[in-house]
Amino acid sequence: MSDIEQLERETLAGVAAAETIAALEEVRVGALGKKGVISERMKTLGKMSPEERKTAGAALNVLKDKVAAAIETKKAALENAALDARLATEKLDVTLPIAPTPKGRIHPVTQTMEEIVAIFSAMGFDVAEGPDIEDDFHNFTALNFPPDHPAREMHDTFFFNEKDDGEGGKKRMLLRTHTSPVQIRTMMTRKPPIRIIIPGRTFRCDSDQTHTPMFHQVEGLVIDRETHMGHLKGTLEAFCKAFFEVDSVKTRFRPHFFPFTEPSAEMDIGYERVGNEIRIGEGAKWMEILGSGMVHPNVLRNCGLDPDEYQGFAFGMGIDRLAMLKYGIPDLRDFFAADARWLEHYGFDPLDQPNLATGLSR
Ligand code: DAH
Repeated sequence: MSDIEQLERETLAGVAAAETIAALEEVRVGALGKKGVISERMKTLGKMSPEERKTAGAALNVLKDKVAAAIETKKAALENAALDARLATEKLDVTLPIAPTPKGRIHPVTQTMEEIVAIFSAMGFDVAEGPDIEDDFHNFTALNFPPDHPAREMHDTFFFNEKDDGEGGKKRMLLRTHTSPVQIRTMMTRKPPIRIIIPGRTFRCDSDQTHTPMFHQVEGLVIDRETHMGHLKGTLEAFCKAFFEVDSVKTRFRPHFFPFTEPSAEMDIGYERVGNEIRIGEGAKWMEILGSGMVHPNVLRNCGLDPDEYQGFAFGMGIDRLAMLKYGIPDLRDFFAADARWLEHYGFDPLDQPNLATGLSR
């Protein structure tokens, strides 16, 4: 056997025996590196006679290519094996359930809003929204508030500083004091029949155990050709039963005054107190929960609707108060104190979506 054949045999055996990429690299450096055996052999070609150089050079080049190819093949095989081993150990079972106790809770106000939306959407209502920063027209004038009505005074309303209105006059914006301005925005842009609820933030300069400067309301509005108080009563009674998750609720409508409805009524629901708990539905006591009425003809006219053609009803209630009642939460100010322990206690599981099929709350 020539020594070149010998060298080939030894080098290829080294390649075959290498079990890691690092060991293979050692073999490569030992054979083809600057000082490797094959490279050293190449350097001896210069001292040979032209005849010798021709045969020895060709044989060495063939050897060099063979060894390089063997190393490449082995390297690919080792890399594949390493990948297979890694895939086997890093297997991930995507069918496993996610962590059993998700972090984070749904705030009772959000929960209550979602419950209200679930109930009214099942009755065919859409959700409408409007801006928190309003003008006097939408918050008061279009809703038939007389110019000297006490609700416009600084006492209740947060006003912004006066600015030029661009037409030579002055104008001051305000934080909406109720969700009713969205009635106006809706009637001015949509053709009846209208069936909407309007959940949102509202603002009044007031603070005690049952009042906060920012609170939440939900407004309802139905406009159609033949709408009457019977529809209003039926809708609100159905809502109360669904919301309080009871089979029957006693309701009472008491005459009241709102500038934007005529006639107007406040609705009371029956309840009783058992120990510390309030039971909604039956019982001899009455609690006021909302304001309502038939949309005033002036309001319809202000929105370009003909009161001889269309009538409608509207109602408005406090979401925070509904949440306090349903979930037995004593102090409204805690709602907005951002206390994680409070939220842990009164909050809801983010994976439970309120819906009428599986129950609103758990
Ligand atoms: N906007 C009234 C308030 O904030 C609530 C209200 C009463 C809304 C009667 C209505 C309604 O739509 O018909 O006190």
